Amino acid sequence: MNRKQAEERARELRAEIGRHAHLYHVLDAPAISDEVYDRLFGELRDLENSYPELITDDSPTQRVGGEPLAAFETVEHSAPMLSLDSGAELAAVERFDQRLRKALGEDAAIRYVVEPKLDGASVELIYRDGLLAGAATRGDGRRGEAILENVRTIPAVPLRLRTDERPAPALLALRGEVIMQIDAFERANERLLEQGKVPYSNPRNAAAGALRQLDPRLTARRPLDIYVYDILAAEGVAEGTEPASQWQVLEALRAWGLRVNDLPKRVDSVAAIAEYHQRMMDARDDIGYEIDGVVIKLDDLNARERLGSTSHHPRWAFAFKFPPRKEITRVLEIVASVGRTGVVTPVAMMRPVEIGGVTVSRATLHNREEVERKDIRKGDRVRVQRAGDVIPQVVERIPEKGKRRQKRFRMPARCPSCRTPLVERGPFTVCPNGLECPAQLAGRLIHLGSRHALDIEGLGDETAKLLVQKELVRHLPDLFELRAEQLLELDGFGEISANALVEGIRKASDAELDRFLYGLGIPEVGRTVARDLARHFRSLEAIRGAGEEALQEVPGIGPKMAEAIAGFFREPGNAEILDQLLDGRITVIVPEAPATTGSALAGLKLVLTGGLERLSRDQAKELLESHGAQVVGSVSKKTDYVVAGSDPGSKYDKALELGVEILDEDGLFQLLAGRGVEL
Ligand code: IVH
Repeated sequence: MNRKQAEERARELRAEIGRHAHLYHVLDAPAISDEVYDRLFGELRDLENSYPELITDDSPTQRVGGEPLAAFETVEHSAPMLSLDSGAELAAVERFDQRLRKALGEDAAIRYVVEPKLDGASVELIYRDGLLAGAATRGDGRRGEAILENVRTIPAVPLRLRTDERPAPALLALRGEVIMQIDAFERANERLLEQGKVPYSNPRNAAAGALRQLDPRLTARRPLDIYVYDILAAEGVAEGTEPASQWQVLEALRAWGLRVNDLPKRVDSVAAIAEYHQRMMDARDDIGYEIDGVVIKLDDLNARERLGSTSHHPRWAFAFKFPPRKEITRVLEIVASVGRTGVVTPVAMMRPVEIGGVTVSRATLHNREEVERKDIRKGDRVRVQRAGDVIPQVVERIPEKGKRRQKRFRMPARCPSCRTPLVERGPFTVCPNGLECPAQLAGRLIHLGSRHALDIEGLGDETAKLLVQKELVRHLPDLFELRAEQLLELDGFGEISANALVEGIRKASDAELDRFLYGLGIPEVGRTVARDLARHFRSLEAIRGAGEEALQEVPGIGPKMAEAIAGFFREPGNAEILDQLLDGRITVIVPEAPATTGSALAGLKLVLTGGLERLSRDQAKELLESHGAQVVGSVSKKTDYVVAGSDPGSKYDKALELGVEILDEDGLFQLLAGRGVEL
């Protein structure tokens, strides 16, 4: 390949990788497998290594770069990043609606866009001529800290705007919220605790903390995500394409390839706002990231202009908050609780308190160092917080003047469940007795049956503990052998509930691979990693057989995780349990991945030229790639086929010249059919 061809190929690869990163990180709709993506990425990196002058600012290889900064620069925002007026009562929303109707004329038809209020860190993004050129924290609303290098590491932030639907303005300043998904947050915290460091108290702090790392490589290690929701300023927007409403703003943002939340709705009454608020509150624990209310925005941008802003907030928007998820209560007792991994966790048993619609009476204190650091003792007044469906945690002690306090908490010397002497591993206290320890067995059972794992109906925490205590389940696989008669002997079980549990277990024994993997309770493997593993390997046997190196080929799996996973499968006790589970007790199902269909065309290089009738060029490309083919832009001797539709261009001539096989549309479909690709 000469320099000119390299340049051409690098451009092609950047566009291609950009397109797939958009499908994957922005639209959550991958079209190719990780392997194919990695191959493209590797090819670009190799090219750039050979021709460093080909590296551009928007090359996907350049997301994490730059040296650590000594300090952040302060920059002025393109427009003030205001706050929001807010309230948690419907009456406040009614007053807001009344104010707007009065100001705009009583009979004006008013439409609102309602969106989730994301609980993250607000940022400004600046694109100049389509290229990401600046980013800043909100700071005091007028000036913030310049964090471009850090924001570049967020995979969902495009380095260049897409322009296939609308041209990029000369300047586009945007506002969005950087968030950390809850499962990523939990994993990050597990890491910190393992290293004996102080965990983040919530995903917002974790996201904000990651953005303020002076070394972008540290930011890159934190799994951040973003949703963009507002245009702060724009210059040089193509005439006739200026958005006139919030709804059109969101559409424009999507068209430019930015990540836009898909929950916003258009509504035209307070009743509809109330309904949306309730719906979001119900969905709150399931959407995977923290929201703390809904934002109501006047849709019409002209009308917004007329209403203007105070120095604090725009008059055209209102945050309808959810009830707080932090409450104050009292610690009645601190107990040592043995979890499914054997880690002994101090747990505060508290006076029950309702937090965001759920009654909470236990909260984790993480480990002995955390209890010391927060200095929480029996009898203390404490602030408790619940986030997502994470276990509630004690945030802090609320000092009470002149009150005598109880003695400090001390970890027991023996396992409270099986009396085995406890051992210390870093900041953790651990029962080394594995699945012989009833508490650990019950914990594994609870986890296996939990909602995101096998979702076994009827198997709650108490039932699982009872099954272990009464020795109906001595080993995990016993669960799948339970008969209704045995359950009838247990307290609280009648014919109906016994049959229901047996039926629940039977139904759950056809298990999807990712759920089963998650349910096994492999250290380091949360839902996301389980999904990534399932998607990458597509069979349990492949995962069991994968060495640490093969595991690390899965994006997001580093050496430490790989070691933990491989170690889990190597452990003879685990291997035996797995063999027993798979021996007729559990059937692992691997669902057809809708987008990445397979490898029937793996290794084929094709070039498309001219118009096709049955498919658009993009559709054809996506179809071919989803079966593992590589669709490239220029014809070379390595090209396997050139697909020529109507009015083919110079690529047709080139194919003739090089003797590359040319297919017409029918020929393409014959090729596909011949390789077993169904359309
Ligand atoms: S609009 C001037 N929309 O909430 C109006 N803000 O408590 C700009 N926030 O600082 C804000 N989700 O960081 C808007 N969908 C959303 C939001 C949102 C979260 C944040 C924003 C603001 C804070 C106000």
